[in-house]
Amino acid sequence: MDQTIRVGVVGLGFAGNVHTMAYKKIPGVEVVALAGLEEDRLQLMGKEYSIPNLYSRWEDLVARSDLDAVSVCTPNYLHAHVAIAALESGKHVLCEKPLARNTEEAQSMVDAALRNRRVLQTAFNHRQRGDIMILKQYIDSGTLGKIYYAKGYWMRRQGIPGLGSWFTSKELSGGGPLIDLGVHVLDQLMFLLGEPEITTVSASTYAEFGHRGRGVRRSGLQKMFVGADFDVEDLATAFMRTEDGTTVCLEASWAVQADYDDDFGLDLYGTEGGAQMRVKRYGWQDTLRIFTDHGDVPVTIAPQTWQGTGHQAVVENFIDAIRSGNWSAHAGHEGLRRVQIVEACYKSALEGREISLQSIRQNV
Ligand SMILES: NC(=O)c1ccc[n+]([C@@H]2O[C@H](COP(=O)([O-])OP(=O)(O)OC[C@H]3O[C@@H](n4cnc5c(N)ncnc54)[C@H](O)[C@@H]3O)[C@@H](O)[C@H]2O)c1
Repeated sequence: MDQTIRVGVVGLGFAGNVHTMAYKKIPGVEVVALAGLEEDRLQLMGKEYSIPNLYSRWEDLVARSDLDAVSVCTPNYLHAHVAIAALESGKHVLCEKPLARNTEEAQSMVDAALRNRRVLQTAFNHRQRGDIMILKQYIDSGTLGKIYYAKGYWMRRQGIPGLGSWFTSKELSGGGPLIDLGVHVLDQLMFLLGEPEITTVSASTYAEFGHRGRGVRRSGLQKMFVGADFDVEDLATAFMRTEDGTTVCLEASWAVQADYDDDFGLDLYGTEGGAQMRVKRYGWQDTLRIFTDHGDVPVTIAPQTWQGTGHQAVVENFIDAIRSGNWSAHAGHEGLRRVQIVEACYKSALEGREISLQSIRQNV
């Protein structure tokens, strides 16, 4: 298929900008429409990226009959609305993470993709890091043996985004750092472990800082935010079991009093080797260690890492999926599984008990 793919992007924030930039670099792809509420920014981006059709309403963009694909880069509460409307009108959809606020929405999106025979993908750009790709090669070549325990975290010391905005409203976002940051780490772990079947989760959430106007990203302006709406967690911890006995721990925070800045990482424990990834402030150099034995001698390997291309790779994979014609293989199931796990974690925290993933799937 070598026809030009015509794309529309909904959203003008960080996500809308990186999607647009990535499409512009791909031969045979044209960004022909852009939508968003901030009029100045709409005009600015339209000019910067030479996009001819600009809309304030996403509905007007999705209604165009000449688009092949739509990127959904809106607040989480709009993901399902925009994506389903686009899928129903025959467009392929690349949706920012999380796929949706909850399983019900995510399942409806997958159903719409299957019904309309279109691609639905979730943007998991942190899986496209160079260190994650290298680690995956070590795992696939058997260096770690069977991984039986894995830990992952994304911890910010003071990093509540947009206090009082959609980010900190449960209704609009679906949750706090777990659904915002934790979903990236969950995706990395699921990718590295080969999409294990999570059977149960036990989680806790805490809200200690946001409602007091503390822990916000711009610490100098903290007082301005006191009393702003904040009904999500600022820390979440979870313990998960998989079908084959492997266990997984996940932590995600927007605000904690600990020696973190905006850091994420992983620890993998395998029967033949282990791995550790430590990323501080989105760095990419010297982030990975592999632990194994050479004969009887314990050896630590420090692979040369590279940055990876993040959203560029995500967008290229999406275009490749469209061009492949094998659309039912890209119907959003990965994104759905991560939303199910996140929902199970929130349910577990609320009810103070272990939750089976089966019960989350059956509820849809
Ligand atoms: N993968 C990543 O690294 C990453 C980073 C940041 C955000 N995100 C995700 O991207 C999404 C957007 O996040 P953001 O930080 O860019 O948010 P943002 O609030 O900065 O931008 C949201 C955009 O959506 C637009 N919008 C809202 N309602 C609209 C409507 N009714 N019609 C048209 N446009 C509308 C707004 O005008 C705005 O331009 C979220 O799902 C977030 O989780 C992902």
